[in-house]
Amino acid sequence: MKFLSDLKKKDLKGKICLLRIDLNIKDSELDKNNLRIQAILPTIKFLLKNGVKVVLLSHRGRPDHKPQTTNHKLTLRPFVKIFKSLLNQQVYFVDFKKFNKATIANYSIVLLENLRFLKGEEENNNKAAEQLASLGDFFVNDAFAVSHRANASVAAITKFMPSYAGLLLEKEIKNLNRAVKDHRNHLIVVLGGAKISGKIGVIKNLMRKADYFLIGGAIANTFVKAEGLPIGVSLYDADKVDFAKGLLKKYGEKIILPADYFISERQIRDIGPNTAKMYSDIIKKAKIIIWNGPMGCFENPKFAKGSKAIAKAIINNKKAFAVIGGGETASLFNDGRFAINDKRLFVSTGGGAMLEYLAGKKLPGIAALNGRASPKILGWKL
Ligand code: 3PG
Repeated sequence: MKFLSDLKKKDLKGKICLLRIDLNIKDSELDKNNLRIQAILPTIKFLLKNGVKVVLLSHRGRPDHKPQTTNHKLTLRPFVKIFKSLLNQQVYFVDFKKFNKATIANYSIVLLENLRFLKGEEENNNKAAEQLASLGDFFVNDAFAVSHRANASVAAITKFMPSYAGLLLEKEIKNLNRAVKDHRNHLIVVLGGAKISGKIGVIKNLMRKADYFLIGGAIANTFVKAEGLPIGVSLYDADKVDFAKGLLKKYGEKIILPADYFISERQIRDIGPNTAKMYSDIIKKAKIIIWNGPMGCFENPKFAKGSKAIAKAIINNKKAFAVIGGGETASLFNDGRFAINDKRLFVSTGGGAMLEYLAGKKLPGIAALNGRASPKILGWKL
């Protein structure tokens, strides 16, 4: 894998970089302090400082059709204003009608329209990738959060131009590797959120390494159901109950389930105070912590107490290294008190990508950059 951070001004000056980023951000979270926006700024600034013209590439949402129009609700247009104010520079928006290198070469920063409006993007189509590649001189993947998708702007594009891992992707890989490679004992994995399916790979892959899995959110309900206990009308993964039974039978001593709950309208909405205390006590002794997925229906502040208690326990354990991921979970740490760079706390921009990486899967976006693993990234399967 080649890294943007290894390139010097003489390699970069005067070139056009196609910079794949992840702006998959809901309208309600569109803000210049959004983690994904903030996390990408160092790379953009690095490129501009080195005399590179930057073409920002991203998808947004899952458009059900592929309109060649910018009036769609998933347009990337609203990001122009945000980047303009953050970079203090003009940002030029290009839709697919003005899609050519001549237009792009006139500007320092260009934002291309939502890539999922482009035919072939989601099919990882070579033609779409070649079309994109014709816009610039080299490609940088700084979209860890979408690197688990084999999309043309993530994977196939690397066949058509020199390609590098960006500063954010490098940081993501290093920190996730650090969490799984660290051989100190006491790895605690906290898993919550709605679906158990995305987390199964992580449980399996980290089962030997982890001391405990602290389970919350609706995924805990699936385990509780598997134990034959009542969960009222709470959410759970009906088709994963047998699987959860199997996991409990095999690794039951490592899978810790809530002892009490916050219940409202016959539904489990959050872990209860005793569970929050029990989980916090375990986290206190951890040396490494990985957390993905909230402990309850976190969007309602009434049901966010459990997640907040876990965040507090992680913050207070000054000896541990923690990796936090998944949009909602990350937002608990994204209030300005924690730099993305904090040496003992890394907030990943990845949700699904983080889970697949921790499950030991090969991410197409990373595999595409990877001839061989660089000595910078040791050991972990890439
Ligand atoms: C994400 O937000 O997790 C990524 O951008 C991937 O989005 P997708 O699940 O729509 O492919």
